[in-house]
Amino acid sequence: MSNRNHQDSIRESGTATHPALAQFIDEALSRSRAHADPSDAVLAIAPLMMALSACADEVLKEAHLRSDPDHYTRNLIYCAPDNCLSLYALVWLPGQWTPVHDHGSWGVVGVVEGVLEERSFVRLSADDGRDEGIALARGGVVLQSPRAVSTFVPNPDHIHITGVPAGRPRAVSLHLYGRTMSDFNLYDVEAGTRRRIAIAHNES
Ligand SMILES: [Fe+2]
Repeated sequence: MSNRNHQDSIRESGTATHPALAQFIDEALSRSRAHADPSDAVLAIAPLMMALSACADEVLKEAHLRSDPDHYTRNLIYCAPDNCLSLYALVWLPGQWTPVHDHGSWGVVGVVEGVLEERSFVRLSADDGRDEGIALARGGVVLQSPRAVSTFVPNPDHIHITGVPAGRPRAVSLHLYGRTMSDFNLYDVEAGTRRRIAIAHNES
């Protein structure tokens, strides 16, 4: 698909695009299609995310930076027509966190403002497909400054919470996934259970 088509696609969703953003989407689509293995896909796309994060001030529009005082905000930037790829700008106000979750997809995250904190969970029990009897242990933490890029792959799924502690400034990050991220697994660590939920996002 050409840049022109991407730009048209984004314009149709109401947001004028920046050439660097159109180029990123075009190249990310190409590299994700060239690499069926999720580990190869994130390896190939991570440098693209680092470059996009570096020029985010020019690329991101007001519509991508919406926030909500009650929860972190997912602003949709691009969604591939065949749902093979989606890109969001996430805005984290101080004290806003995700629940414990996984994505069921590969992902590439680039920080563009503030410090994004990720706390990981390690699955101790084998995934037998059941949504109960799931033993999770707390893992490590990563603090990501602007231009930092992190990635994850599924199977086993990457389980974590992400956010900004109260007292730290707002953070903004770009999240590229290998599918439309309209649902994911939520975990109850104490109960050892998970459930699939649909999630809403601001469509720009
Ligand atoms: Fe996540």
